[in-house]
Amino acid sequence: MKFIDKKILEYCDNNSNQDSGILQELEDFTFKNKQLPQMISGNMVGNFLQFIIQSMKAKKILEVGTFTGYSAIKMAEVYSDCELHTCEAMEKHVKTANDFIQKANLQKNITVHQGQALETLETFQTGYFDFAFIDADKINYLEYYKRIITLIRKGGVIVLDNMLWSGEVISPKDDHSKVLNKTAKFINEDERVFNTLLPIRDGLMVCYKK
Ligand SMILES: C[S@@+](CC[C@H](N)C(=O)[O-])C[C@H]1O[C@@H](n2cnc3c(N)ncnc32)[C@H](O)[C@@H]1O
Repeated sequence: MKFIDKKILEYCDNNSNQDSGILQELEDFTFKNKQLPQMISGNMVGNFLQFIIQSMKAKKILEVGTFTGYSAIKMAEVYSDCELHTCEAMEKHVKTANDFIQKANLQKNITVHQGQALETLETFQTGYFDFAFIDADKINYLEYYKRIITLIRKGGVIVLDNMLWSGEVISPKDDHSKVLNKTAKFINEDERVFNTLLPIRDGLMVCYKK
């Protein structure tokens, strides 16, 4: 996932707003106690999400893929009156996320929905959300996009993480790369959105619903 020279990344980090104390604590905890801690999207992606949320004053936010709660807390930190729904399949991650959501005093803002995200997504109203972040199992990415494009209002934004999959999407061989490659093509041909694929970290596809 390292497309850019480490020194350049450090320079970018040194010249960017830093995570809040609770997010730094959550990141430390995740790296010390969890498998695959690198699933945390991190400060560069997190700041980019916050940037969009602030630019469009997004207060109704949807996330697919909670893990330990880093990106959910990061996004919910922007507006004290936001409503964020995040989907997570694994009970142990739901528990950790809820512990840190409590510590961040964001329990009134964030609801963690435990279960298969595609089933949870069925429970939301069409056009309800301003902003969505897709960051769960890659195999369902196209299905997540197809469902979430209906859940987002006109003028809303969807961001999909890991759309470069360490570069594997260029000549896709495994199932994940194939789905991500198909998802990128589908979005790029979808006339409902203006989209751009940015090489930020592992690739962010940003879609504006026209
Ligand atoms: C990349 S991690 C999310 C990272 C998080 N957004 C962050 O920045 O810290 C993906 C998460 O999606 C969850 N997940 C995978 N498949 C899922 C599914 N079908 N439904 C709900 N959650 C799922 C995984 O358990 C994992 O915690």
